[in-house]
Amino acid sequence: MPAPDLTVRLRRLRRTSALRRLVRETSLSADNLVMPYFVIPGRRRREPVPSMPGVERLTPDELAREAEGLCRLGIPAVILFGIPERKDATGSEAWSARGAVQLAIRLIRRRALDLAVITDVCLCEYTNHGHCGVLRGAEVDNDATLPLLARAAVSHARAGADLVAPSDMMDGRVRVIRSALDAAGFRDTGILSYAAKYASAFYGPFRDAAGSTPRSGDRRGYQMDPPNAREALREIALDLEEGADLVMVKPALAYLDVIRRARDRFHAPLGAYNVSGEYAMVKAAAMNGWIDEKRAVLEILGAIRRAGAGFILTYHAKEAARWLRG
Ligand code: PBG
Repeated sequence: MPAPDLTVRLRRLRRTSALRRLVRETSLSADNLVMPYFVIPGRRRREPVPSMPGVERLTPDELAREAEGLCRLGIPAVILFGIPERKDATGSEAWSARGAVQLAIRLIRRRALDLAVITDVCLCEYTNHGHCGVLRGAEVDNDATLPLLARAAVSHARAGADLVAPSDMMDGRVRVIRSALDAAGFRDTGILSYAAKYASAFYGPFRDAAGSTPRSGDRRGYQMDPPNAREALREIALDLEEGADLVMVKPALAYLDVIRRARDRFHAPLGAYNVSGEYAMVKAAAMNGWIDEKRAVLEILGAIRRAGAGFILTYHAKEAARWLRG
């Protein structure tokens, strides 16, 4: 058979690693990664999270040590989730100056690291009913929750957080948090809004780690309905109007289209949360020898970047940073 007469041969640029690097359209580096941590009260303790192999809940002193290592890997930011000593109906430990998160921020700050500290602002880890706000009957009361979120955010700013990240999905929280931060003198503390956060099955392992599974009902009354994408754009637009400095789509993998649409529409920094269930699926398959973990993780994180996310919150951040270093 004669050689076919092809002028365009796309394989030419795939031949060598150098050529592939030269024409690669998306980059992924440690700079793009944010490592999440669960902070528990006490000292010198690390507790593994069974549904998230490789993830541990850490006391503030252990976390501060851990932070040094992250800096060496070139990871620019952490996001902290607090686990309280005691839970109550309003989640009051969320704004305690002696809470695990507040303490951890201070200890990290004391080390003067080149590391941005972000804090998750939500009540679900702190309430005894496990919902993200205060209840009125069976429903989460939006407006009664707002001042409590603002108190938590201000307590994080006071401890030295660079960014506070509300994940509760109450309407109007960004505005209320912005004005509370300003009123308390924290004009330079930024807000990373979990703007488009879906009511997802992929948060299961996180809720094990944080003990934040709702005791009754679910979060569908405040988190977004998964089939909706236009609504996500409205959420993001609103949060930016209310003063969000950065916005996020969560989860990542089942919502790559939402990330892309948000990237095309808005110019604010955009992130995506590669959530606990996404992590657990990869770990489980890797531990069974069913996939190559390193290749799978780098492919997934690369895809989230390709969809348009500038930064990615991922429990794989440390491992990925190591792999990216080669
Ligand atoms: C708190 C919060 C959750 C996550 C981040 N912040 C849990 C939830 O909404 O139930 C999930 C993160 C993950 O699954 O990795 N509201």
